[in-house]
Amino acid sequence: MSGSSATRVVLGVSGGIAAYKACELVRRFTESGDDVTVIPTEAALRFVGTATWEALSGKPVSSSVFDDVASVAHVAVGKQADIVVVAPATANVVAKAAHGLADDLLTATLLTARCPVVLAPAMHTEMWQHPATQANVETLRSRGVFVIPPAHGRLTGADTGLGRLPEPAEIFAYCREVLRRGETAANDLAGRRVVVSAGGTREPLDPVRFLGNSSSGKQGYALAATAAARGADVVLVAANVSLPEPAGVKVVPVTSTDELHAAVLDVARDADAVVMAAAPADFKPAVRTDHKIKKRADGTAPTIELVETPDVLAALVRQRGDSWIPVLVGFAAETGDVQAGVLAHARAKLRRKRCDLLVVNDVSGGGVFGADDNQAVILSAEGGETSLPRGSKTDLAHAVWDQVSTRWSTTEGETTPGSAGACR
Ligand code: CTP
Repeated sequence: MSGSSATRVVLGVSGGIAAYKACELVRRFTESGDDVTVIPTEAALRFVGTATWEALSGKPVSSSVFDDVASVAHVAVGKQADIVVVAPATANVVAKAAHGLADDLLTATLLTARCPVVLAPAMHTEMWQHPATQANVETLRSRGVFVIPPAHGRLTGADTGLGRLPEPAEIFAYCREVLRRGETAANDLAGRRVVVSAGGTREPLDPVRFLGNSSSGKQGYALAATAAARGADVVLVAANVSLPEPAGVKVVPVTSTDELHAAVLDVARDADAVVMAAAPADFKPAVRTDHKIKKRADGTAPTIELVETPDVLAALVRQRGDSWIPVLVGFAAETGDVQAGVLAHARAKLRRKRCDLLVVNDVSGGGVFGADDNQAVILSAEGGETSLPRGSKTDLAHAVWDQVSTRWSTTEGETTPGSAGACR
């Protein structure tokens, strides 16, 4: 390492059309003050040329181990890096990395790197889903390599499907999270399937109006992003959230509590944990009119009759049986009142809801909604109480996964990761 305090990022780029997106990734790293070395493969240079990479990174660029031999670049670059990111990683580079091949500067660097390595594969759906690629990804993950699952969307031609490179902003956020976690960064949730719900539902009154709430979805998105960064397979059921999709997360958009209920129950079927961070409306208008409700000539206001919506968490608890026992986590924004304090209300809610963990926010003084930080207490069904210091929603998300993970490991042996076995 040099005396410079800048984070040394090595950005490998392999030969796919998504190589152009890596240009923005270089920009994001350099604009954050990172020291970026780009290593394109020969094939990547057919898509984006050396001049572009040199101009964006401000450094000479090479693909070959035979350039700058005196500095032993094929060993030095990897050894000195704080993080190595390959975006896009083609099926070929994923295979070479899994098998330890080192026939160019990028693959040699992957063998010499002792820092976190993040691969962002991008390829056609068939190539991604091929058992060879999936086995290679599993091998890499088992060695601690972070593999961001590709997104759904437009591929090289007019076709769409799974295999698209996530957006540069998402890859950048993922890498920052890995760097932030430092030595504790790990694929400790690999092999686990988790479902997170986020956002606030909307219950339509007429074609233009709805009953809604102020949930921003930030906490749920932080939960999804952190679980993905720790290697979990994540489905995020998002109700009316306008945040960028976290890298490597499958997002299922919904609008109302009925839709959230159907979507969560569907994707939770083989999940190892479900975290209900969403704020579903408890009531909806009994009638949704097809036409806009008009002002009345006599100046009277309409009365809106409400009916209850399904309780998603309660439905999950009811469905839990011998063959499906995921860890179920609820969230509760509580205020104290004359009858009881925040925690007493929360304990009563945990007993009523019969989930495993309840993350409690004290909202007596406002705040939380839309904020970037959070203060919470995590209550467990067995009476445990973990008070967390004020911190970011990402910190809280990690604390939640730590507790979920502890519950999984207490029953280790009774289940295998991904089997949705006994978790309580
Ligand atoms: N929840 C749910 N379905 C609903 C309402 C809430 O799954 N229809 C979940 C929330 O996502 C949260 C937990 O239940 O994880 C607690 O939500 P909260 O609104 O605090 O609980 P309620 O049972 O609605 O109680 P309250 O009367 O205090 O609103």
